Amino acid sequence: MPKINTIGVLTSGGDAPGMNAAIRAVVRTAKYYDMRVMGIRKGYEGLLHGDIFEMSARDVSDIMHRGGTVLQTARSKEFKHIDGVRRAVSTARYFGIEGIVVIGGDGSFRGAKDLCGEGMPAIGIPGTIDNDIACSEYTIGFDTAINTAKDAVDKIRDTATSHERCNIIKVMGRASGNLALNVGIATGSEAVLIPEVEFDFDRDILQPISMGKKRGKKHFIIILAEGVKNVDDLDKRIEAETGIESRTTILGYVQRGGSPTAVDRVYASQMGAYAVELLKEGTGNRIVGVKQGRVYDIDIVEGLDVPYVVQEDLITLAKMLSI
Ligand code: F6P
Repeated sequence: MPKINTIGVLTSGGDAPGMNAAIRAVVRTAKYYDMRVMGIRKGYEGLLHGDIFEMSARDVSDIMHRGGTVLQTARSKEFKHIDGVRRAVSTARYFGIEGIVVIGGDGSFRGAKDLCGEGMPAIGIPGTIDNDIACSEYTIGFDTAINTAKDAVDKIRDTATSHERCNIIKVMGRASGNLALNVGIATGSEAVLIPEVEFDFDRDILQPISMGKKRGKKHFIIILAEGVKNVDDLDKRIEAETGIESRTTILGYVQRGGSPTAVDRVYASQMGAYAVELLKEGTGNRIVGVKQGRVYDIDIVEGLDVPYVVQEDLITLAKMLSI
């Protein structure tokens, strides 16, 4: 394939802490190799509407420690149709863009795959707090989100103990329980409810609470993944069945913001640089990810087909340690 001299970079879908470090790495690596970089604002929306500007190494100064994405993000409906994809590709070409780095989740990767299908080489970098992209062990933002949730749950635990209450803390993750599972283990919660395991009120709630009570526990922390179905009024049900006062906290968007942890900054820097190295050699249509702790790349179609599996050993560990 011919080598590429001008690349575009965009962030798409839900933002995630560390996306700025990835943008910085893309821009600085490209500059290191004397390539041009075009920043595309608001994801595929910006690509469709030509919201594109040339970036210099200085444009990414002082952004590494900031949450969110300086390029902003969007979920584009228009880009879901082939006409939109074709229009986006011709806009990219008008700006001289020969390859695009897409930082986002699996929905954004499907868009990147469509770009590739229309002849525009694209590289996906996983950026989502959900850590639900099966072909990569890690997605940018996950570590920061776990830490944000961990800090919140630690605080809730203080008041839970004082009142001998049950506190349910709902965390994000879309259809994946990865975030919840890791938060549950990091906070030593009594139960973790995730969409990958069918919910059973007796087994998952009543049994741990009654065992915990017998063992002298003073609080019951339940981490609930947002993807779990049929858990409406869980606090009321627990209170009615056990007599223990129960409260629910929805952590919400607080998990998407904040300064990224060092883990997120380092992975984002590695993946951003790796993506540019691929494009520089004329290689597109890849997803950059992490496998056995190392950054690697995989064909975009193959990568999107890798089946998602939750880590069974973490489910077992969470249960084992909650006694
Ligand atoms: O994918 C990241 C995420 O924060 C999910 O955890 C959540 O389900 C979703 O995005 C929320 O999306 P929106 O920003 O559109 O409300």
